[in-house]
Amino acid sequence: MELTELLACPSCGSSLTRIDDAFACSGCELTAPVVRGIPRFVGDEAYTESFGYQWSTFRTTQLDRDSDDESAVTFREKTGINPLDLRGKRVLDVGCGMGRFAEVCARSGAQLIGVDLSNAVEPANENLGAFPDCHVIQADIFDLPFAEETFDAIYSIGVLHHTPDTKEAFLRLPRLLKPGGQIAIWVYSAERRDLLASGLKYTYRRVTPRLNHKMLLKLSRAAIPLYSIHTKPAIGFFSRKILPTSMHPDPEWRVLDTFDDYSPRYRWRHTYDEVLGWFAQAKMTEIEALEPRVAVRGRKP
Ligand SMILES: C[S@@+](CC[C@H](N)C(=O)[O-])C[C@H]1O[C@@H](n2cnc3c(N)ncnc32)[C@H](O)[C@@H]1O
Repeated sequence: MELTELLACPSCGSSLTRIDDAFACSGCELTAPVVRGIPRFVGDEAYTESFGYQWSTFRTTQLDRDSDDESAVTFREKTGINPLDLRGKRVLDVGCGMGRFAEVCARSGAQLIGVDLSNAVEPANENLGAFPDCHVIQADIFDLPFAEETFDAIYSIGVLHHTPDTKEAFLRLPRLLKPGGQIAIWVYSAERRDLLASGLKYTYRRVTPRLNHKMLLKLSRAAIPLYSIHTKPAIGFFSRKILPTSMHPDPEWRVLDTFDDYSPRYRWRHTYDEVLGWFAQAKMTEIEALEPRVAVRGRKP
């Protein structure tokens, strides 16, 4: 798959040509340098610095290995898509992070493009390096450098709620789908199952995104032993509410997930009604609400 077949200028929509170490627009002045093999359509990470730091630190923690297929299982649950159905299809991973789900699709033979605004593109490019039909691009969801109707499938897992405007970010995507193509997103749920824990987490978050990343990582690491208290029958019921941290059984995942919870600048939550409404507004068909909340998929007519 040649990148130039898919790319279009994010400013004027004209085609892009590869000239030495850059993509140059045929219709305007835009050039996108290719640095360490990754086309860069943004000058910096903007508000996603914490993610650049996170994924550069936990470069491979969530990749599936041998008997461990947690990422593949999560992909199926959150998109409703069987990765095997993506073989030979052009697929866009919006906000690919270090490439956890992109790798699942690439292993199934998808022609995959991963985009991310942060420096997560560096570990993603390393993790996907073994797949010749995969490319990673540093770009912003709000200014994606692709021609209309390019992709057979688009998915975005845990990303859109970390942008300044979840709905607007979603609405940028359907124009990139081919007719008949499918789109699936998963965003945080606004359903408050545990008012106290969720209220306290958001109280702590008034401060934590402003902490130095190294300091917040140290705090997330220091929280590892809380797991043994959180899992105790009586005291755990209260400790989990007062100091909410990740409950993943793997200690390294817990550090990553806890950092991921407390560090991002934006962290919106949404209901099924809202997300189903965005799919309807984008004129998708076969709209389906999936579990876990809030996962929704649809198809372009
Ligand atoms: C929680 S991570 C999820 C990464 C990946 N989807 C996964 O589940 O492992 C959210 C990702 O969204 C990216 N992101 C946030 N805003 C973005 C934007 N406007 N354009 C592209 N990527 C963005 C962040 O840089 C980050 O890597």
